[in-house]
Amino acid sequence: MKGLKILKDGYLETVKNGSTTLSLLGHGGGIEMMKQTVLKDKLIALFPGEDASVQEFFYILKGEVEIEINDSKVNLREDDLFSAQDLDEAIYLTAKTDVTFLSVSTYPVFHSMSNVISELRKIGEEVERKDRYTFKHSSRVSKYAVKTATKMALGRDRIHNLFLASILHDIGKINIPEEVLKKPDKLTDEEFELVKKHPGDGAAMLRKTAYADLADIVEQHHERVNGRGYPFGLKGDEILVEAKIIGVCDTFDAMTEDRAYRKAFTAQYAVDEIKRLAGIQYDPEVVEAFEQVMIEEGKIN
Ligand SMILES: [Fe+2]
Ligand SMILES: [Fe+2]
Repeated sequence: MKGLKILKDGYLETVKNGSTTLSLLGHGGGIEMMKQTVLKDKLIALFPGEDASVQEFFYILKGEVEIEINDSKVNLREDDLFSAQDLDEAIYLTAKTDVTFLSVSTYPVFHSMSNVISELRKIGEEVERKDRYTFKHSSRVSKYAVKTATKMALGRDRIHNLFLASILHDIGKINIPEEVLKKPDKLTDEEFELVKKHPGDGAAMLRKTAYADLADIVEQHHERVNGRGYPFGLKGDEILVEAKIIGVCDTFDAMTEDRAYRKAFTAQYAVDEIKRLAGIQYDPEVVEAFEQVMIEEGKIN
C-alpha cells in the first residue's frame, strides 16, 4: 500500500560502539527514531548541543538507569521517559542493568555515529592525504555546502544528505594512482580520463551501502550547467541542486588552497571567478547564496 512501510524484525541499520548498540528504526521529516541498548554499569552522557532547537526523547523499554540531577539521584525504569533540549550542562546516566531505550531525536545522531560513514570518511581522509589536500578539504566543503543550502531553504532532510555527500564527495579518488593525483603539471589526456572516473567510482561505492541515496549527488559533483562537466555532461536542471552546491564549494576550496604548481588564490578572487562563471559552469542561484555565505563568514566583503 502506498505510504505504508513495514519492517519486521529488522532495522534500517545498526551501529555498535563499545558497550552501546544503536539501531535506526526510521528517519524522515528531520527526525530519527532509534533503539539503543547500553550494557550494565556503563555511563551514558547527554551533552549540550550547539543548536538549542534540537530535542531528544528517551523512553525506557527494558532495564534501569540512574540519573544524577543536582546531587540527587533518580532511578528510571520501564515505561519511564526523559527528554532533553537546550541543556546548560552535560547530564550523566548510569545503566544499573542492561538497558534498552527507544529514542527520538530531531538531530541526525545516528548518522553521525554510523560505522559506514566513519569507514567511508576514513577512505576520504586517505584520499586527501594522497591528493596533497589538507585533511580538511571535505569538512570545509561540507560546512560551506550546508550553509549555502540553508540559505537556499533546501529543507532539513536534503541538507542532511548534502552534508554527508559533501564529506564523501571525493572517495572515488581512492582508485586514482598517487602519481597522477600528485602530479604537479598538466595531466595527459589518459590521466585526465582516470581522474574523470572518480565521481562514478564514489557513487558505486555508496550504492553498495545504506547511503545509496547520496550516490547521485556524489556522481554529479563535477557536472557543470553548460554541459561541459563530467562524467555525463548533464546540463542545467538535469543536475541535482545538491551536486551544484558541492560543485561551487569544492571549486572555491580548491582555488583557495596552495597547490604544487601555484599559490592559493584569495577568497575574493575565487568568488569573483565563480561569479563570472555563474550561468556558464555554476548555477546562478547557488552562486548567489554562496556569495552571501562568504560575506557572512567574513571571507569576502
Ligand atoms: Fe571531485
Ligand atoms: Fe573535492
